[in-house]
Amino acid sequence: MKNLLSAADLDRNEALAILDTARRMHAVQTREVKKLPPLRGRTVVNLFFEDSTRTRSSFEIAGKWLSADVINVSAKGSSVSKGESLRDTVLTVAAMGVDALVVRHNASGAVARVAQWVDCPVVNAGDGTHEHPTQALLDAYSLRNRLGELDGRHVAVVGDITHSRVARSNVLLLRTLGARVTLVAPPTLMPSGVGSWPCETSWDLDAVLSGKAGGDVDAVMMLRVQRERMSGGYFPSEHEYAAAYGLSPERLDLLGDDVPVLHPGPMNRGLEISSAAADSSRSLVLEQVQAGVSVRMAVLYRLLAGATDTSEEVT
Ligand code: NCD
Repeated sequence: MKNLLSAADLDRNEALAILDTARRMHAVQTREVKKLPPLRGRTVVNLFFEDSTRTRSSFEIAGKWLSADVINVSAKGSSVSKGESLRDTVLTVAAMGVDALVVRHNASGAVARVAQWVDCPVVNAGDGTHEHPTQALLDAYSLRNRLGELDGRHVAVVGDITHSRVARSNVLLLRTLGARVTLVAPPTLMPSGVGSWPCETSWDLDAVLSGKAGGDVDAVMMLRVQRERMSGGYFPSEHEYAAAYGLSPERLDLLGDDVPVLHPGPMNRGLEISSAAADSSRSLVLEQVQAGVSVRMAVLYRLLAGATDTSEEVT
């Protein structure tokens, strides 16, 4: 694997290898000294052209725990705000002798362009409404931890699918791992072309959650309503959206006790997810954040040190 740009870059073996490596990496989180040696002397740059809390800090922690030097460059406070082009910014950063670039950009496809301009590995940390492969990996990690292997499992992904890069990456990766996905959204938030995605679709959340459409669900992933990407009226009011598509306490009761609830964060409490659901014992939200560090350690490790794997370095 040279880059990680899309969940489609991962075949089943590679995806499982990352998830297994992440499991070994996870042990570091509970140690007093959170440091492993494999990326000593390597430099990873986080190049973020869009806001982020968890993804940026999680890549930073992941790199540091593997002993890499990690530098953060964000659009605000960089020459991008002086009008420099994406290509010039990227080539400038790469010219400093960088070993890997982790890039987030608000334009779909921008990260794949970056990968064409530089020689070092590039990781897509979210490009527009397109893909967010490490989010899908951390979701799969959390699901696997709770449910075991994902073959034959049924995952409902609910909410603003049109603007979600998380949805597309999850559909691709969950499918690769043998799971079934049903996307649930109002027609206005279901992307055109979804018919060609390897998943089922529904507009009826209650029918999906109660198992009346498509059979029992094994997990529910709620997605944020991405107001910053909306330019028109996608639904009549927030109140109506919450009533039809929010994971309310009543809807939580439609699910079996052991059905986990996921959300990539940041959450709009009271809109797509109620506090009862977000804070319930079935919520994997904080486990997802924890998994994010392990999975990103695994990805950086496999991209930068994978060829010289000495497994004692990561145990
Ligand atoms: C997601 C993102 O930025 O795409 N969040 C994240 O990375 N944790 C989802 C979102 O913003 O809703």
